[in-house]
Amino acid sequence: MSLEAARIVAGVMQKKHNAVLGLATGSTPVGMYRILADMNKSGEIDFSDVTTVNLDEYYPISPENDQSYRYFMNTNLFDHINIDKARTFVPDGSAKDPDEACRDYEKALKKVGKVGIQVLGIGQNGHIGFNEPAKNLEVLTHVTKLTKSTIKANARFFESEDDVPTKALTMGMGTILRSRKIIIMANGEAKKDAVAAMLKGTINTSCPASLLNLHKDVTLICDKAALGE
Ligand code: F6R
Repeated sequence: MSLEAARIVAGVMQKKHNAVLGLATGSTPVGMYRILADMNKSGEIDFSDVTTVNLDEYYPISPENDQSYRYFMNTNLFDHINIDKARTFVPDGSAKDPDEACRDYEKALKKVGKVGIQVLGIGQNGHIGFNEPAKNLEVLTHVTKLTKSTIKANARFFESEDDVPTKALTMGMGTILRSRKIIIMANGEAKKDAVAAMLKGTINTSCPASLLNLHKDVTLICDKAALGE
């Protein structure tokens, strides 16, 4: 999975200078980041003219906190590649005014231009970014409350469930769907129901990932356990 995803991302970078990569955190893409860093070391791909935009960040959280998504991106990818960190964007989890931070993020996204490829993971509840299942989904980057199930799923990275931030800043569904190309990665049985809901052939905000059916260039990369029957 990691190799296939890395190949697709590398292909986008090799095809176009100044590529804009949309990136995700979580456990799923860690292997892909390792391979991209290796490909960079061996000279296969060059990050010097690349810009990255991340999907989301907890709120409130400082960028130095080792559970922040900024810290995750630095340690899993940016510290190991020849990227200019000034060209790496993650929503500002330490902003005083989170709504303003979301508006600023949309402005920054407009400035960097169209995302060439967006990498996504999927939550057990079908979320992408932190767009949690709900009656209404937001179009643009916004502040969101994490659902109990997401807090529980992410508690494995924290000392206890109580330490998981309850809010996040996340790209909206419209922000995600604006990207030219999307890959969504899913592994393990825990993702089986979410993947099934996404592939069912109907669109429902109770499975935000099902909205990807409206996009014309989405690749699902998953293992047998996540694909189920
Ligand atoms: C992370 C993100 C989330 C994760 C999802 C899966 O930036 O936006 O939607 O992709 O929660 O997380 P893992 O990979 O840890 O199972």
